[in-house]
Amino acid sequence: MPPPCRIAPSILSADFAALADAIDRVAPVVELLHVDVMDGHFVPNLTIGPPVVAAIDRHTPLTLDCHLMMTNPGDFLEAFRAAGADWISVHVEVEGTADLLAEMARLGVKAGLAVNPETPFEAVEPWLGSLDHVLVMTVHPGFGGQSFMAEVVPKIRAVSEAIAARGCRAFVEVDGGVDAETIGVVAAAGATCFVAGSAVFGHPDPADAVRTLRAAADAACASRP
Ligand code: DX5
Ligand code: ZN
Repeated sequence: MPPPCRIAPSILSADFAALADAIDRVAPVVELLHVDVMDGHFVPNLTIGPPVVAAIDRHTPLTLDCHLMMTNPGDFLEAFRAAGADWISVHVEVEGTADLLAEMARLGVKAGLAVNPETPFEAVEPWLGSLDHVLVMTVHPGFGGQSFMAEVVPKIRAVSEAIAARGCRAFVEVDGGVDAETIGVVAAAGATCFVAGSAVFGHPDPADAVRTLRAAADAACASRP
């Protein structure tokens, strides 16, 4: 049985001065939130750290899916776990993947490996059996609201097919430029978890936006061979 389609609203596109309200708007229709952590070094932007994750965790029982766009995620895994991160993705472009995955296993978080648009399938291929999810970037990480990069779709398909062929537990999560049109393309390529920032929080009714995205994803999943 393939996992159900899940929408992960990215709070990066929410109003940080009214974060609790934004979370409350989507909470009835989602099971997880995507939290973009940027260090000003791995990516040219700065966002959220463990204190904010802890505040979100106190506010909501939703699963917190923390995407660490950091050069040195290993220095912060324990802090994010203690703050309430349930899923953590580190980038495969960062050194020390084996140690990072071992540390995430020790901490009991769901372990993900994120892969930038220009990084080939071969970089994540050796780790598939050790992962809970593969976070395939369909924009260059660093900012919300960018355009979907269709050239990444063959890699989504390659990762999905390799996971299925090997019987791995991992699923494919896609991040960047996901909207009501592009979600069908990535779902058809095998993704089952979809990060959406501007498509959700840029919409006047974020819950309605989630429902629309999920319907489009379900339709595409259902028509997969
Ligand atoms: C980009 C982040 C994304 C971002 C997606 O670096 O990793 O999670 O919030 O935003 P949209 O959906 O607007 O492309
Ligand atoms: Zn992200």
